Amino acid sequence: MPKVIVLRWGHRPKRDARLTTHVVLTARALGASGVILSDIEDEKIRKTVEKVTKNWGGPFLFEMGKPWKNVVKEWKTKGGIVVHLTAYGENIQSNVLNKIKELGKDILVIVGSQKVPSEFFSKEISDFNIAIGNQPHSECASLAVFLDRLFGGEELKREFENAKVRIIPQKRGKKIVKKC
Ligand SMILES: C[S@@+](CC[C@H](N)C(=O)[O-])C[C@H]1O[C@@H](n2cnc3c(N)ncnc32)[C@H](O)[C@@H]1O
Repeated sequence: MPKVIVLRWGHRPKRDARLTTHVVLTARALGASGVILSDIEDEKIRKTVEKVTKNWGGPFLFEMGKPWKNVVKEWKTKGGIVVHLTAYGENIQSNVLNKIKELGKDILVIVGSQKVPSEFFSKEISDFNIAIGNQPHSECASLAVFLDRLFGGEELKREFENAKVRIIPQKRGKKIVKKC
C-alpha cells in the first residue's frame, strides 16, 4: 500500500474552516497518513485534528504553514509522486489509476480550495492531474473517491491505534466502547 499525504492548498480560515476540517477527516478516515495545510497556519484546525486523533485514534500526521513548493520539492526528493486532483485532469475512469498503482510510490495528493496556481498543472509539480469526472464539485468528494479507488475499499476496514472511542457497528441504533 502506498503512503498517501494530502496537501491542502488555498485554505482561507474564515471561509474554509469547515471544509478544510472535512478534508482532514476524509483523508484520515479513507486511508491517508496525514494532511499538510500549506502556506498558512490555523490553530483551530490543528486543535480539531488533535482532538479527533486523541479520541478516535491514529497515527495521523498534521502539519501546517510550510510553503507548498517546499512540500512538493521535499516529497519528490524522497522519491514520491504528486497527484493533483482537478476537474480539468485525466478522468479517473481512464487507465490512469493503473499507471499510478504500477509505480508503487508514495503519493502526495494536492487538493485546492480557491483557484489553484497554474504551476500545479505542470510536469515539474504534478506527475498526474486527475479528474474525478470532468465536472466541478468538491475537494472532499474528489479526495474520497480517489482514496477509495486507490485503496480499493480496504482502507474502510482499518483499525486505528490508541483509540479512546470505537464504534461497534449495529443494524440499528448507536453503540460505542470507551477506553479510559
Ligand atoms: C471547489 S473546487 C474550486 C475550483 C476553482 N474554482 C478552480 O477554478 O480551480 C476546489 C478543489 O476541489 C477539487 N475538485 C473539484 N472538482 C473536481 C473534480 N471533478 N475532480 C478532481 N478534483 C476536483 C480540486 O482539487 C479543486 O482545487
